[in-house]
Amino acid sequence: MGQNNYIVMKIIGGPASQLLATRVASELGCELALAEYERFPDGEAYVRILDEIDDVVIIQSTVSDEDLICLLQLIDACSEASVKVVIPYFGYARQGRRFQPREAISAKVMAKTIGADEILTVNIHDPSVLDYFSGKAHDLDAAPLIGEHIRSLDLRKPIFIAPDEFAGALARSAASKLGVDYDVLEKKRLSGNQVEIKAKHLDVANRDVIILDDMISTGGTMTEAIELLRRQKSNDIYVACIHPVLATNAVGRLFKAGAKEIIATDTIEKGVSIISVAPLIAGALK
Ligand code: R5P
Repeated sequence: MGQNNYIVMKIIGGPASQLLATRVASELGCELALAEYERFPDGEAYVRILDEIDDVVIIQSTVSDEDLICLLQLIDACSEASVKVVIPYFGYARQGRRFQPREAISAKVMAKTIGADEILTVNIHDPSVLDYFSGKAHDLDAAPLIGEHIRSLDLRKPIFIAPDEFAGALARSAASKLGVDYDVLEKKRLSGNQVEIKAKHLDVANRDVIILDDMISTGGTMTEAIELLRRQKSNDIYVACIHPVLATNAVGRLFKAGAKEIIATDTIEKGVSIISVAPLIAGALK
């Protein structure tokens, strides 16, 4: 990087995004600013930034409520600096509206707590949630990074499958990066952890399939999709997502159902997070 392009901003990684923050700092040639995270004897959280800061980017996914509280504390601890906030995985985004009377619109409640002028998210579940942030919010698409990774696997007649209409845009985005087909399944949710999936108009016989969704939580959606695709005589089945929430026994469920591999990004840092969204975030911050 030339001297004229030297970036003075520093990157702070919250506890949920330590690796990703380091990778973004390395992409940008920026320094990391460290914070300490402590707990008082009664369990309350304490945050303090250890380095001098005047221009910072805070990177913290909000997988748990604890992560959100930590992000709020980080933003406040940086209140004398110029702050951008990156929330690679924004929890609660699935509850972006009222599905039944008297429900909380959780995504709105959470977004309104984020006191920053600029917010970046990655494949937020429902883009309309961006309007709930008081600052300028922008969503990044990591699906092409998944497409690039799939290219390196050299699969047999690969086809991307979205488990529902909602994930259709993701499958299209990843497939177009690779120049291959994509299709969509139709999903009906029966209960909190049960879904029924029916084929639309796909022919997956003798093809390697990548089922792509924005997130895998309990693994229920993917398990149903895997079973359907196996009945249709597909070859290897890869399950891919942007956000590997992977609650409880989701990993076991997916492999038991017949997944060959689970592929995800580091918006949530798990063992399956083999694709980094750091270049995407760094590009947006430049
Ligand atoms: C829902 O619309 C999302 O896009 C995912 O399909 C869903 O959250 C996955 O959840 P689970 O793994 O519990 O089926």
